[in-house]
Amino acid sequence: MSRIKIHDKYFETSIPHEEIVAAIKRVAADINKDYAGKRPILLGVLNGCFMFAAELMRNLEIECEISFVKLSSYQGTTTTGVIREVLGLTENLAGRDVIIVEDIVDTGLTMQRMMESLGTRGPASVQIASLFVKPARLQVPVDVKYGVFTIPDRFIVGYGLDYDGLGRNLQDVYDVVED
Ligand code: IMP
Repeated sequence: MSRIKIHDKYFETSIPHEEIVAAIKRVAADINKDYAGKRPILLGVLNGCFMFAAELMRNLEIECEISFVKLSSYQGTTTTGVIREVLGLTENLAGRDVIIVEDIVDTGLTMQRMMESLGTRGPASVQIASLFVKPARLQVPVDVKYGVFTIPDRFIVGYGLDYDGLGRNLQDVYDVVED
């Protein structure tokens, strides 16, 4: 196990690269089966999804497309909590089978926002593929059909995920070391 420091915190390896890639392959196989004969569009949520989206896409054998969206970091205060605008959703999704590709579902608010935004565009279906899910943190119900890893309520970095901008380039995934 290796220990690294990012900003003020220490992290230790929790999931090695090979394990991540093997698990993504298994999820890709499920998608290949479930979408046989269809042409889904993957919709990656930036920034964190980029490594997962690339690995997932290269293991898909069905016809498929990919596009990316970003959520604004603007946070308003209302009774429902965080309001984020979905930026860059320019594709015509009417009648399309959409697979949202997310790095991690934590509170679920981002996915709830995405689902709301997509709902108005008349897709044939929308499913979520997320590299990580932290069930203990969910504040709203989110159905992650293609969850790769279910993890405890611990902050992680690596394989696309960051701690304050750093750590996205790490090949393995690391857990924060609580002091
Ligand atoms: P949610 O809206 O609370 O589900 O948050 C999802 C977003 O929060 C993810 O796309 C990540 O950008 C960020 N996030 C949540 N948990 C972690 C973590 O453990 N490490 C890094 N980023 C995280």
